[in-house]
Amino acid sequence: MARRKKIYEGKAKILYEGPEPGTLVQYFKDDATAFNNVKKDVIDGKGVLNNRLSEYFMTGLNTVGVPTHFIRRLNMREQLVRSCEIIPLEVIVRNYAAGTMAKRLGMEEGVQLPRPIVEYCLKDDKLGDPLVTEEHIAAFGWASQQDMDDILSLALRVNDFMSGVMYGVGIKLIDFKIEVGRVFDGDFQRLVVADEISPDSCRLWDIETDRKLDKDVFRRDLGSLTDAYTEVARRLGVMPKGATSMAKPKLIN
Ligand code: C5P
Repeated sequence: MARRKKIYEGKAKILYEGPEPGTLVQYFKDDATAFNNVKKDVIDGKGVLNNRLSEYFMTGLNTVGVPTHFIRRLNMREQLVRSCEIIPLEVIVRNYAAGTMAKRLGMEEGVQLPRPIVEYCLKDDKLGDPLVTEEHIAAFGWASQQDMDDILSLALRVNDFMSGVMYGVGIKLIDFKIEVGRVFDGDFQRLVVADEISPDSCRLWDIETDRKLDKDVFRRDLGSLTDAYTEVARRLGVMPKGATSMAKPKLIN
């Protein structure tokens, strides 16, 4: 059997050439990393959960008219996506103070913000994804003014959708990160939500107890990451029936 072509390998995912032009296969690994790769581990089943959860959120976004790169899930760890040109920015939306913003501004985590705050970081691992302003983005040509208007609108629509969905299952959406890609339809181009939306890229707290159900469980050693992600999947009803074991299939000799 011919080996498929690997296009890109990141910390948590691999992109392979897709079956048709303009498509890619996005494979979710079990690798967990934090603090720009300083902390690393392999968490059995994380890739399976994130594949399912990202499918759930991206499908919902597509349904309510927020365009994404997602086409369909292929199997436990892979999904078919549209190939796009990734804008080199991490777009962060915050509803409550937490993480780097709480630290930077000396705020207590969990304080509700007066309105959603959107931040941009340059996607550059070597530099540790530094926070940048729209001035930097315009001056260095990382995105045009039209792109920035579209990115802001996409980010806020994702925030409204995700906040509502999570609220419905008793979870506060503290903050999240998205990536945005450019797709070409003939002579036209448009921006779509790309990469993944999962507990790896969101902060999710239980409304009643403030229990963390996201990657901070790994970053801060707060217990089992699989349990936290499974709880999110269970509440949303996206756990595959009978898929209690997330272990990888074993080779039979
Ligand atoms: O670390 P920070 O507070 O800036 O993160 C804000 C949000 O963006 C968090 O939900 C975090 O999980 C997400 N994020 C991410 N990938 C990064 C940086 C942040 O998914 N490289």
